[in-house]
Amino acid sequence: MLIQLTDYRFDLQKDTIVKMRIAFTYNVRHVKPSLESRQAIDEAEFDEPETIQGIAHALKKLGHQVFLVEADEKAYFKFKCLRSKVDLVFNIAEGISGSDREAQIPAILEILKIPYVGSKPLAQALCLNKAKTKEVLKYHKIPTPNFQLFTSEKEKLSLNLKFPLIAKPNAEGSSKGICQSSFVKDEKALKMEMKNIFQNLNQAVLVEEFLTGREFTVALIGNHPVETLPLVEINFSGIPKNLAPIDSYEVKWIIDNPNSAIETVICPAKIEKNLLKKIQEVCLKTKMVLDVLDWCRIDLRLNSSGIPNIIEVNQIPGIIPDLKENSRFPLAARVAGYNFGEMLQKIIDSACDRYGLKNS
Ligand SMILES: Nc1ncnc2c1ncn2[C@@H]1O[C@H](COP(=O)(O)OP(=O)(O)OP(=O)(O)O)[C@@H](O)[C@H]1O
Ligand SMILES: [Mg+2]
Repeated sequence: MLIQLTDYRFDLQKDTIVKMRIAFTYNVRHVKPSLESRQAIDEAEFDEPETIQGIAHALKKLGHQVFLVEADEKAYFKFKCLRSKVDLVFNIAEGISGSDREAQIPAILEILKIPYVGSKPLAQALCLNKAKTKEVLKYHKIPTPNFQLFTSEKEKLSLNLKFPLIAKPNAEGSSKGICQSSFVKDEKALKMEMKNIFQNLNQAVLVEEFLTGREFTVALIGNHPVETLPLVEINFSGIPKNLAPIDSYEVKWIIDNPNSAIETVICPAKIEKNLLKKIQEVCLKTKMVLDVLDWCRIDLRLNSSGIPNIIEVNQIPGIIPDLKENSRFPLAARVAGYNFGEMLQKIIDSACDRYGLKNS
C-alpha cells in the first residue's frame, strides 16, 4: 500500500480549544513489512501511514493544533520555518541515516531551540548503539547479558561466551535483522549469521549470551516521578513450535497481525510481587543512568537464575493506535487505564514539565 503523506496543518474546528501548537514529526513506511523486500527491511523502523494519521488525529482530538513534519532531508528547514509557530515537537522520527540517526531530529531541535518530547541527542544515539548501552549498564552494575562486539568476520569468539548465543545488528530496532537464524547453538551457525549481518546490514554484530527465561517489556512515562505501566510479557507459547523463542522480525511483523489468532503478548503479565518489584527497580535505574527523558520501553529477559537482564532500551517506542496490532506501549497504557490520547498527553505533560511550558 502506498499512501503519500504530505506535510500539512490540520484545520481545527471552530469550537475546538487550542491547548498547544504541536509539530508531530515522523518517518513513514512506503511498503508493507516483508522478508523478501529490501525496501521493507530498510523501512522496518518507520511507521505506517495509518499510524501517523492515528497519532495526529489523537493529538488533534486532545485540542492541540497539529503540524505534520516528515523527518526527511529537509527537516531542518521545515522546523526553522515552524519555529515561531509551534510550542513543542512530538517526535517519533527514527532519523534520516547513519548509526546515530535517532539523535538527528533532537539535534536539529536543540540548534533551533524548539522544545521536544523525549531524550536528548546523546541518550538517543547511545541507546541506538546496543553494545555501548551495555557498557554503561555494566559500569552501573545493571545486569545485561555478556557480549562481544564484532567489527569483522575475522575476529575470534571470546572463550567467556557460552552457547547458545544470539547474533544481532548492533544498531537497529523493530527486530530488523533478528530472525530465527539469529539464535545460534554453535560456532558454525554463528559464523554464518555474522556473515549475513555484515553483508546485508553492513554494521557491527553484537553477539550475546542467550537469556532462556521469560521476556518482558516495560513502558515508562515521566521523569520525576516515573510511572511504570503494567508489564507486557512476550508469549512464546503462542508462536509455532519450530521457531526459536525470540521476538523476531517474523513474530513481530508477520505472525502477529490483526487477523491472527495467535496471542504473542500478555498484559498485564502474571507475575509475583517480588519479581515485579525487581523488574521495576532495574528499569528505573536503567532509565536514570542512560538519561532517558519522558518515555521509553525497556526490553528485558530473565536469565537461568531468574535475574532480570536488560536487553535494550527503546527511546522512541512504537505506538500503533490500533490495539489489534499489539503495539506494546499503547497496550500497557490501555491496561493502566489510559486511552491512546491520554497516553500521548501524559508523555507531552512530562516534556512540558521539564521545559516549564503551560499546556492548556
Ligand atoms: N540476549 C538475548 N537473550 C535472549 N533473547 C534475546 C536476546 N537479545 C535479543 N533477544 C530476543 O530478540 C528480540 C529482539 O531483540 P532486540 O530487542 O535487541 O531487538 P530490536 O530490534 O531492538 O527490538 P525492538 O523491536 O524492541 O526495537 C528480543 O525481544 C528477544 O526476544
Ligand atoms: Mg527490542
